[in-house]
Amino acid sequence: MTAAWPLPLWIAHRGAGKLAPENTLAAFRLGASHGYRAFECDVKLSADGVPFLLHDATLNRTTPAHGVAGERPWSTLSRLDAGGWHSAAYAGEPLPSLEAIACYVQRNGFALNIEIKPTPGQAHATGVAVAAACTALWQAAAPALLFSSFEAEALRGARESAPALPRALLLDKLTPGWFELAQGLGCVAVVTQHRLMDAPVVARLHAAGLHALCYTVNDADEARRLLALGVDGLITDAVDRFAAEDGVVSG
Ligand code: G3P
Ligand code: MG
Repeated sequence: MTAAWPLPLWIAHRGAGKLAPENTLAAFRLGASHGYRAFECDVKLSADGVPFLLHDATLNRTTPAHGVAGERPWSTLSRLDAGGWHSAAYAGEPLPSLEAIACYVQRNGFALNIEIKPTPGQAHATGVAVAAACTALWQAAAPALLFSSFEAEALRGARESAPALPRALLLDKLTPGWFELAQGLGCVAVVTQHRLMDAPVVARLHAAGLHALCYTVNDADEARRLLALGVDGLITDAVDRFAAEDGVVSG
């Protein structure tokens, strides 16, 4: 284990999971109100290269607009309603820039897991640009920051741009060579879909000095299983049911 590991055990997924519109500042504030001190979010680039938060490649599900988000300039994206789809209480909530989120988390002493979620075809460029932006936005010697991505090319880009900032490989299946890929990318962690994590996987990662994390853990029995395995991080939507304290699972 490295001393500079940036994250606590519990990490709020997309800000505050499903209780507020995902990947908005409102979601981060709600997660924080439940005691969460670390947040996962999805970051991609606007057409003019501004890193901003959005899960999907398109705007269809979480805004009134349609089409590929990464084909729009930030001046257009920043005016969209990213909250009204969720509930009336959040209507008008904007898509946040990574800069706005960086301001919020640093001012409050929170940690951030940035999932680099490129628009298809832009993996390497997105990794380069997001990591460069973070180098500018986080001036601390050891920022509480972890990059992750399902896309190796995005992590390669991040490594080229900011080699000192830690990286994690995301896995939705244990494909052949996953462990060697994570090591080859210089990752400090692997984040698996929660059902993939078992004792041999944890043991293999820990033996190599890598951290073992899981997403998206919303079931209390599953959380207890993973904690008993000794995982190092749990990404959850259930910020209202799981206390953000080490090892505590209620609900
Ligand atoms: O980073 C973990 C998790 O967020 C990956 O899945 O689809 O929610 O981005 P997704
Ligand atoms: Mg994500």
